[in-house]
Amino acid sequence: MKHYLLDGEWVYREENYRRAFELVDGYIDAFMDGLRSGRSVKAEEIDVKRVLLLGMGGSGIVCDIAAEILSSRGIAAQVSKEYTAPLGEWDLIIAISYSGNTSETLNSLLRFLDQDSRLVAVTSDGRLARLGEKFGFKVVRVRGGIPPRYAFPDMLGAILGYLENLDLELARINLDEIREFQEGLKRDKGVDENPAKEAAIRISKSHPIIYVYREVRLPGYRLKCELNENAKLLCHYAEIPEALHNDIEAIPRDGLIIVPRSFREPYEISKTIEALSRLLGESRVLELRARSKSYFEEIIELFMLSDYISLYTSVLRGVNPLILHRIERLKDINAAYHEIKRRLDEKLG
Ligand code: F6R
Repeated sequence: MKHYLLDGEWVYREENYRRAFELVDGYIDAFMDGLRSGRSVKAEEIDVKRVLLLGMGGSGIVCDIAAEILSSRGIAAQVSKEYTAPLGEWDLIIAISYSGNTSETLNSLLRFLDQDSRLVAVTSDGRLARLGEKFGFKVVRVRGGIPPRYAFPDMLGAILGYLENLDLELARINLDEIREFQEGLKRDKGVDENPAKEAAIRISKSHPIIYVYREVRLPGYRLKCELNENAKLLCHYAEIPEALHNDIEAIPRDGLIIVPRSFREPYEISKTIEALSRLLGESRVLELRARSKSYFEEIIELFMLSDYISLYTSVLRGVNPLILHRIERLKDINAAYHEIKRRLDEKLG
């Protein structure tokens, strides 16, 4: 059966929805463009054992994925989402800020400006790009003019492409597999056969509660952030099994547990989710699955699924998935932000 909104072509003719879906439909090409940009920036020859990654929000999650991949290759990687970077010795410092103007990221970077050979930035522009020009560190540019969170594939490709030049080939990707998965999430696939539309319908009628475990922490977090920013929907996010020792007592009547699942899921976690589903009733648990059975493809597919779910939820809630009402305004009225910008502008001359 068709859904009156999600399966209605007219909905997607509205400019904001059309543009948002177009951006998410372009995921793979954007990733490939990013990869090419990253590869085109020659890296210094350094032996990389310890990496620090700086980034917030939609840029920060790119740091999270890169760190997870680096760690899986035996490289110690730490992500910082603070105003000041943690103390430590780093072989490589990666700053990612789509706008190039995020104060936490730039302020953290300040202390490393004299270590230009160890620094690399990913950005579309802003003060970060100008700092790169002035202090001589590498800058990988991604396309400008879109909201940062939609540039996730561009930025991920950019940093992975750059790391290849350091002999760190981190992602061998089967794009055909991902492409096929994506086809099943697009607007022309009806509710009956489209897991993203089905999930959005359930989410929009409930109080969403995202439960993650280690292997799916990042896609689960992406879903939380995308529901917040695109669908303007507050949702709860917690880690299991810990949450099952406290959080579970407070699940509201209309709570819908959303659990991304992974082929890498440990046996104990599978059994725990099964038990949770028995306890609450299957109708109160929504499982999100990718199709691929390899690490990188699965992560990307779960990210895509999360992004589409958030867009369909924005349609159901009648909100604009491109516009943010508070994030930029808060930056504008935050004295700390202005102070950091002033210090940066002094440095930039
Ligand atoms: C906006 C968004 C935000 C930004 C964050 C940091 O689309 O997703 O979470 O990513 O405010 O800004 P940038 O990415 O420009 O450093």
